[in-house]
Amino acid sequence: MDYVADNVSLDMSFLEMLDVVNEGLIRKREDAIAFDSDCREGICGMCSLVVNGVAHGPDRGTTVCQLHMRRFKDGDTITIEPWRARAFPVVKDLVVDRSAFDRIVAAGGYVSVNCGGAPDGNTIPIPKDIAETAMDSAACIGCGACVAACKNASAHLFVSAKISHLALLPQGQPERYRRVVAMIAQADAEGFGSCSNEGECEAVCPKEIPIQNIARMTREYFRAMLVAGK
Ligand code: SF4
Ligand code: FES
Repeated sequence: MDYVADNVSLDMSFLEMLDVVNEGLIRKREDAIAFDSDCREGICGMCSLVVNGVAHGPDRGTTVCQLHMRRFKDGDTITIEPWRARAFPVVKDLVVDRSAFDRIVAAGGYVSVNCGGAPDGNTIPIPKDIAETAMDSAACIGCGACVAACKNASAHLFVSAKISHLALLPQGQPERYRRVVAMIAQADAEGFGSCSNEGECEAVCPKEIPIQNIARMTREYFRAMLVAGK
């Protein structure tokens, strides 16, 4: 479908532009374009749009909710698509069902080690470089752009960010090996593809999660196999 976006200012975010288009459609008693959003400040991972062929649009390290219309010229034609992956079925228009990610996280289970209260947790010594790397991995917002950009629709960058976050920290050690096996099995069961090291995931990730996490996840998986004697 083609839509004309009138009354759009350069300062509007991409989602505000869609809001304006939808207000016009509603005034004409036509169906609004369905799209997902929540925080609109780059932290919830809901805004899952492919803009001009790029997941989250043309700005690196930026979610589509933080993309601004000043990035485009007056009169431009902009192509907007939903994430495309078998494991992310389209619900309507630009909305996809990303609950497969929730099931992968649930398969990872919980962290059962008793750290005590927050002050006790904060007294566990963790080298700064390890804490920083774990924090970088924890920055993943579960948006699914990595899957949308991957020709295999692989969820490896997402899963590896979650695996790395906990495998690096002392609190994540008790279920470390059970977690990686269960999360990878769930990703396979959801229909995500395998990784062929193209790097498209890293290129579009709005949180710039490094692809090195995937190598770490592979090492974690092999260690888990060794520990299990397989
Ligand atoms: S790894 Fe990046 S692209 Fe993939 S879900 Fe996390 S934040 Fe989104
Ligand atoms: S709407 Fe929350 S990250 Fe875009």
